[in-house]
Amino acid sequence: MCGIVGYLGKKQACPILLNGLKRLEYRGYDSSGVALINGGLEIHKCKGKVSDLEAMIGKKNVVANMGIGHTRWATHGEANDPNAHPHTSNNGKLVIVHNGIIENSDSLKKLLLTKNYTFTSETDTEVLINFIEFVKKEEKVSLDQAVRIALNEVVGAYAIAVISLDDPELIVVARLGSPLVLGLGNNEFFIGSDATPFLDLTKKVIYLEDGEIAIISKNGISIRTIESDLPVDAVIHKLQMDLDSIEKGGYDHFMLKEIFEQPTSISNTISGRLNIKNCEVRISGLDEISDNLISADRIIIIGCGTSWHAGIVGEYLIEDLGRVPVEVEYASEFRYRNPIISSKDVVIAISQSGETADTLAAIKMAKSSGACVFGICNVAGSSIARESHAGAFTHAGPEIGVASTKAFTAQVTVLVMIALYLGRKKENLSEKRFREVAQELKMIPAKITSMLNLDPKIKTIAKLLDKATNALFLGRGFNFPVALEGALKLKEISYIHAEGYPAAEMKHGPIALIDENMPVIILAPGGGLYEKLLSNIQEVKARKGKVISITGCDQTEVKEFSDAVIEIPETIECLTPLLTTIPLQLLSYHVAVQRDCNVDQPRNLAKAVTVE
Ligand code: F6R
Repeated sequence: MCGIVGYLGKKQACPILLNGLKRLEYRGYDSSGVALINGGLEIHKCKGKVSDLEAMIGKKNVVANMGIGHTRWATHGEANDPNAHPHTSNNGKLVIVHNGIIENSDSLKKLLLTKNYTFTSETDTEVLINFIEFVKKEEKVSLDQAVRIALNEVVGAYAIAVISLDDPELIVVARLGSPLVLGLGNNEFFIGSDATPFLDLTKKVIYLEDGEIAIISKNGISIRTIESDLPVDAVIHKLQMDLDSIEKGGYDHFMLKEIFEQPTSISNTISGRLNIKNCEVRISGLDEISDNLISADRIIIIGCGTSWHAGIVGEYLIEDLGRVPVEVEYASEFRYRNPIISSKDVVIAISQSGETADTLAAIKMAKSSGACVFGICNVAGSSIARESHAGAFTHAGPEIGVASTKAFTAQVTVLVMIALYLGRKKENLSEKRFREVAQELKMIPAKITSMLNLDPKIKTIAKLLDKATNALFLGRGFNFPVALEGALKLKEISYIHAEGYPAAEMKHGPIALIDENMPVIILAPGGGLYEKLLSNIQEVKARKGKVISITGCDQTEVKEFSDAVIEIPETIECLTPLLTTIPLQLLSYHVAVQRDCNVDQPRNLAKAVTVE
């Protein structure tokens, strides 16, 4: 993970770098640092948040027009000052920031030790910058050539930015497997792991591709391939994002803002894509692979974490409405387990960030086996969006809070539309049913708006959980994956151990855990399995567990047996996940706030998991 930034131009670099790092903190926040050149080399770095770095730099007059910076999510070595980036080479002249993992750093380090190199950190990054220095000295080449030659010996993933005291008007950047975006201003250049660091400074960007190196100087940017040193024609894109979309807008936390944005984000996901009159889903990416989809033997959905949960909802939807067999896999398992994949498979890869290393690698593997890959991503220009044969953006807007909320409901919304598309194309879904689901989908944003009014009530219910050490989330059918998602939300931001289970599985083990200290959150929104869920609630009550039910307005029996009830508006069963998810997000949020946890930046986590 980690976030990297850079600046070269006429302005003061330090505030631009610090501001950029704050926007990238969702990628890691163990430590941070900046390196600036102006005559000499100035490095400031420390353990902790970017605000700690900012306080450390304080009122020091750091004058420089170029520099690089980093916010870290620890991989090699604990989060402390020596391991914080930037790292400097032994001659004190070369400096690097790095996002990724150098897998052969041990062997490179052994080589460097024989050449009397010394190391002050435990990081793979310090090995890399010394290896670049070694190559530069041995081969007697320029900085960019030294970086390129060194990277040809590297195994692993990286996005790097390198500067040198000897070339004070040059930044060399390169990427393989970790994202890197270059911003083009007026005689000034920006570098970021994504475009947010310079969103207010330029809208013109170049997405560096895997295997490319860029040499940034005051005269412009030249891009070449790392392997063969061949020139690459850069494509300049125009950013659509604006600054408001990445700020808190009066909310205490990004997570809360993003929960409340869901009526808008889901409307944006649907916008222009549903033609109810003609019973059509208009997603150009689906049309591009329409033949593959129609003739597919099966669909394999891959993703990680919350995106994997959305994938399970997708499995239920696509099998129900589209009648196509679906398998859902953790991308991390899929890529390493020698699965049987053929050109008759369509793989749907789901990722908010579009940068998750395991999902990206699984896509590459599926493609090499001949499968057609459809990406569902939130971030335009991301690696997964570009690696897929076709895709659909979720249009949820930037998600900054580390716990995924609006991205999940947007992913599920896209999956509903894919299920509808398949149902009609394969003639498995009647026009009547299409219209029923599509019309109801369009009503979901308004129903979520009405549910958000329950926030004060949910805040009170959260008190039932704030002293708990464990919690159980139960759901069935379409709401089984929502139970998994509810448990994940609670554990990641409030550090309460939580498990999600299909409700019927409770009696096969988890029931042993239930006593008066165990809160059980039960998703019973009505529908075919309602009676069975009612029995589950009674089973929990019989063992003195505390029941919080998420249920429909008409389900009076549930209310009788529950310690707390949150009602959702009426909808059709297959769309209930889009509603039942909302109170679970709010519940986790309030529990975390009541426990004084860092909601937007939970410990040990990062927003984009660009390492295995
Ligand atoms: C949980 C969460 C993670 C991500 C997972 C995949 O709230 O955010 O579990 O869902 O790391 O990330 P993406 O969707 O970016 O591939």
